[in-house]
Amino acid sequence: AALLIFWTIAGYLLGSIPSGMILARALGLGDLRSIGSGNIGATNVLRTGSKGAAAGTLLLDAAKGAVAVLLARWLAGGDAAQMAGLAAFVGHCFPVWLGFRGGKGVATFLGVMLALAWPVGLLCSAAWLVAALVTRISSLSALVAAVTAPLWMLLLGYWSLLALGILLAALILWRHRANIARLRAGTEPKIGQK
Ligand code: G3P
Repeated sequence: AALLIFWTIAGYLLGSIPSGMILARALGLGDLRSIGSGNIGATNVLRTGSKGAAAGTLLLDAAKGAVAVLLARWLAGGDAAQMAGLAAFVGHCFPVWLGFRGGKGVATFLGVMLALAWPVGLLCSAAWLVAALVTRISSLSALVAAVTAPLWMLLLGYWSLLALGILLAALILWRHRANIARLRAGTEPKIGQK
């Protein structure tokens, strides 16, 4: 149990590093809180106009989740890996450094999935990409990627991941409630739009 608690804390701390905020500030792109949706993720970093910073944010936020899972699995096994992944996701969404007001977890979720079960991670990423190509809306694509995760797990037989997959999908839906309201009102911007 001590090991699980250790990896939960380690995963949380890793996940709570606000890559987007740090990159935007370092590159002089302004305060993400007063740009676009006010979110700290790659989609909102793109609204600063910097594709490079957005790509960097996506990669770093995904890497946080993947590194937490891989380290925990290597040093402590599968249960610790799932806990570390969940904790990294929670850390991204509720970072202590930002008064627990963090991101929406999509990139970190994809990193966690790729590291836990790469076929599931690839299918979730593909679902995001196809939805993004069709709709050009980042939040809607994220919702498609998240809610299909448990389906890919069922389809490919990753039973041990199913509870985590459902929990992460539910948390992503919850974190997107403002986006869902905008989607319903038809006012959600397309990727790259302010
Ligand atoms: O992953 C975040 C994305 O789904 C929505 O971001 O900035 O449009 O709320 P944003």
